[in-house]
Amino acid sequence: MKGRESREQKQDAALIEKMLAGSGYSQRAIRYFIEKPHMGEIPDADQVSDLTGTCGDTMRIWLKIKDGVIQDARYQVIGCPGAVAAAMALVDLIRGKKIKDARKLNDGDVFRLLENLPDQKNHCIELAVKTFQKALNDYTQKTKQQR
Ligand code: FES
Repeated sequence: MKGRESREQKQDAALIEKMLAGSGYSQRAIRYFIEKPHMGEIPDADQVSDLTGTCGDTMRIWLKIKDGVIQDARYQVIGCPGAVAAAMALVDLIRGKKIKDARKLNDGDVFRLLENLPDQKNHCIELAVKTFQKALNDYTQKTKQQR
């Protein structure tokens, strides 16, 4: 039974990959969506923020920050494959960056790393970037108040 299940899971994954590729997702974006390397939470995060997009999808981001540098980040995404891929790519772009440099990150940077998403998925990248920017603003606000 177990062997059969894993064979079925593999077939499902292959089918999903094929469908995503057929609708314009790059191989890199598909890998981010399937492997979800930065999905989850950071229990001792310095900042947790969330945002809901106009499409109704929601993202939550956890940031670990030390001496003005983003040490680590995780996302939880209730949304589409484009949203998951964009959030995962964004983490790869911000890890190890100073907050002031990470603030400059824009939708184009995430798109370039993803290589391609269907046109109608650009707002999913925007949601990942806006959620991150909101977290930085919330964090800056909070640390200002603590001073
Ligand atoms: Fe809502 Fe992709 S459809 S983030």
